[in-house]
Amino acid sequence: MSATIIDGKAHAAGLRARIADEVQRLKAAHGITPGLAVVLVGEDPASQVYVRSKGRMTVEVGMASFEHRLDADTPQAELLDLVARLNADPAVHGILVQLPLPAHMDESAVITAIDPAKDVDGFHISNVGRLATGQDAMVPCTPLGCLMLLRDTLGSLSGKSAVVIGRSNIVGKPMAQLLLRDSCTVTIAHSRTADLAEIVRRAEIVVAAVGRPGMVTGDWIRPGATVIDVGINRVDAPEKGEGGTRLVGDVDFDSAVRVAGAITPVPGGVGPMTIACLLANTLTACCRASG
Ligand code: GUN
Repeated sequence: MSATIIDGKAHAAGLRARIADEVQRLKAAHGITPGLAVVLVGEDPASQVYVRSKGRMTVEVGMASFEHRLDADTPQAELLDLVARLNADPAVHGILVQLPLPAHMDESAVITAIDPAKDVDGFHISNVGRLATGQDAMVPCTPLGCLMLLRDTLGSLSGKSAVVIGRSNIVGKPMAQLLLRDSCTVTIAHSRTADLAEIVRRAEIVVAAVGRPGMVTGDWIRPGATVIDVGINRVDAPEKGEGGTRLVGDVDFDSAVRVAGAITPVPGGVGPMTIACLLANTLTACCRASG
């Protein structure tokens, strides 16, 4: 038997369409346009691609997009000044400072400077604490997208055994909090976990977010489990000719698809949900700000 392939692209398109409808309603009924400011410091090629597609999709759902590009050698004080201006700007409901920042900057100081109500990444310590204590919070976009895919696939997650592989602040830890909030029994595994395969084999839900291409193989998967692959790893692909590459996840798709009940592909799984959830968070921030 082969798993159901969870079509993240289609889920994300549906979510963006619902957001676009709500944006139109806000404009028509209240004259409010949600606005998202994205700040990019330096010229990291991958970050430039992300920022461009965030800007395009923001405009596509009818929101206002404010892009700020700063040179790689910009002093941190200048970035903090910009964040303060965006905090005070009523047309800006969401602020995202693209990471990683250049080495001379203190990421934590920059994130802390963002107004938590506009922190659409959900990285501010206040949002991290609110999520951990069960209060309304801005939730990081990638785990939020994973949760939506899981709920759409399984319905209620209550009582299910889940393993999150990876303990990053951006994905692993908030993912575990969200699964716990939905009453899963959650194990957080990481690079030092003993008997990882055995732990994964017991889980009805597997979320892989380690950044190791193809690490989770089909023989680790419990038959019928739901597998969410957050990894986006570029690997050599000699079949594509000299210098060819392709994207693969943290799960070895070809072996896992034969055992799992449902699985996300890479690309086309979690990735498209991340930007859609950024727009959802911006809409939420706008609605909260406007009462
Ligand atoms: N860089 C890679 N992913 C992210 C993200 O989700 N948010 C921000 N701000 N930077 C990133």
